[in-house]
Amino acid sequence: MNIKQLLAEKVTAAMVAAGLPADTNPAISISTKPQFGDYQANGVMGAAKKLKTNPRELATKVVEQLDLNGIANKVELAGPGFINIHLDEKWLSAQLTTIANDAHSGVTQRKTPQNVVVDYSAPNLAKEMHVGHLRSTIIGDAVVRALEFRGDNVIRQNHMGDWGTQFGMLLAHLSDKLQANEVAETALADLEAFYREAKIRFDEEEGFADRARDYVVKLQSGDDGCARLWQQFIDISIAHSEEIYNKLNVTLTRKDIMGESAYNDDLPKVIKALMAKNIAVEDQGAKVVFIEEMANKDGEPSVFIVQKSGGGYLYATTDLSACRYRSNELNADRIIIFTDARQSLHFKQVEVVARKAGFLPESVRYDHCPFGMMMGDDGKPFKTRTGGTIKLAELLDEAVVRAKDVIKEKNPDYTDEKLTEIAEKVGIGAVKFADLSKNRTSDYIFNWKTMLSFEGATAPYLQYAYSRIQSIFAKAALSPETLNTACNIVEPQEKALALKLLQLEDVIDAVINDCTPNLLCNYLYELASLYMSFYEACPILKDGIKPEIKAARLALCAQISYVLKQGLEILGIDVMERM
Ligand code: ARG
Repeated sequence: MNIKQLLAEKVTAAMVAAGLPADTNPAISISTKPQFGDYQANGVMGAAKKLKTNPRELATKVVEQLDLNGIANKVELAGPGFINIHLDEKWLSAQLTTIANDAHSGVTQRKTPQNVVVDYSAPNLAKEMHVGHLRSTIIGDAVVRALEFRGDNVIRQNHMGDWGTQFGMLLAHLSDKLQANEVAETALADLEAFYREAKIRFDEEEGFADRARDYVVKLQSGDDGCARLWQQFIDISIAHSEEIYNKLNVTLTRKDIMGESAYNDDLPKVIKALMAKNIAVEDQGAKVVFIEEMANKDGEPSVFIVQKSGGGYLYATTDLSACRYRSNELNADRIIIFTDARQSLHFKQVEVVARKAGFLPESVRYDHCPFGMMMGDDGKPFKTRTGGTIKLAELLDEAVVRAKDVIKEKNPDYTDEKLTEIAEKVGIGAVKFADLSKNRTSDYIFNWKTMLSFEGATAPYLQYAYSRIQSIFAKAALSPETLNTACNIVEPQEKALALKLLQLEDVIDAVINDCTPNLLCNYLYELASLYMSFYEACPILKDGIKPEIKAARLALCAQISYVLKQGLEILGIDVMERM
């Protein structure tokens, strides 16, 4: 269900009937104030300017032709040529009843689903996941779920960093530990510490760096023993990431992993293809693409190294290979990649080169979606007090502990078990919502207090709104699922809610198109806030409320709670019946 689209069709038909070209943009938008109606068509002004006619007169003609019979109960002309549309409550009630009976709440399912490859999370397995990977993981997962909700076919790709020279020192160090009879799981229990130890040995211990380099060579030449050691390391590190995915309630699984190493065999072929097409050239022993299309203001081309002078391949080579694989093997219609903004230049270069080389056909949409950084209260990149990187696992544990305190204060009589259960949902939800609700490309300040507040746009606020609606049903001894009454919109608060509920498809489409889960966060917050005002103004279970009004209001509540739940589910945030 998409009201905007429906109105666009109707207004376009009227514009054509009034003599305007069929491609005139009707410019439908949601009205900002109730006195301007529910929707506005603002396209007449632009059309009149083009035709050099009086907009007001043109708008009058369009309104005369506009047939919104049964849909709107008032259409007004305002200002220089705005058309204000007031939707009819009966019509809204009927639409709402229809979407209330739809599993996707009126979000129509794609008739021709797209194959969308989404590259997200992608931690480096040499180290533990840190807060920098939080954003990629949760923003990516929200977009993935929104795409699936709309009916697209998503192929998740976890492009993990599981290859590179740093593995030489790690494997040398691991080999020594195993020699000393340590078990790999224990040795790698703290990857961060393990990495530090290996690095210190690499920098300081006589002969260790050479052994590390030997391991790199062995790894690259496919030495069996070395491959086994590497596999052991990778498996344990992946298990660390999986633990985080579980905690975070994200949908990534092992079968989504397509790490850098998976492209190894293809890298020489990528170089060969680039050389054959004269896209890459030899430069001081290295193979380089000079990208003229991305020249700087002095006309110097952007330099993109695809093979080092020693023959080694780079992050860039792997990403070119990934482009080809995703277009050719995965049949991607669209590729979306989530990393922090510092990699923007890299992905622009990858795209330009991949297109030139024919690895990425013009028909495939390629979106690198950068995001800003998470900052501490001091406005500097989020670090531990001593300046170290904050481990994601620890941050999430802290979230649960803090949420537990907050819940306990509100409900001192809850058992510890119940508190823990709620705190897990609230704590993790709070961290995720705080992040997802921010404009993707800006940096943001991480603040425990605001994210765990029950006021404002937070997960606890939305979870609380949901559980409040559930408690109404509990009190009425009804289940929202079995409710089978029609909606009936009468009061302005009800109308506002109906309009909001009917706008879900629009929001999902914007989230999918721009990769901006924050729009869904805003939407859910607005929905919950409208519910709170409705609840104040329109009694439901109070004595003296006519049974049919009560039934219609309950039907409205049921749909609100359903959408809150579905929306939060897309964000990967759990709700609960009581909190
Ligand atoms: N492993 C990289 C990092 O931690 C992110 C990989 C993103 N995906 C890609 N195709 N390069 O920064």
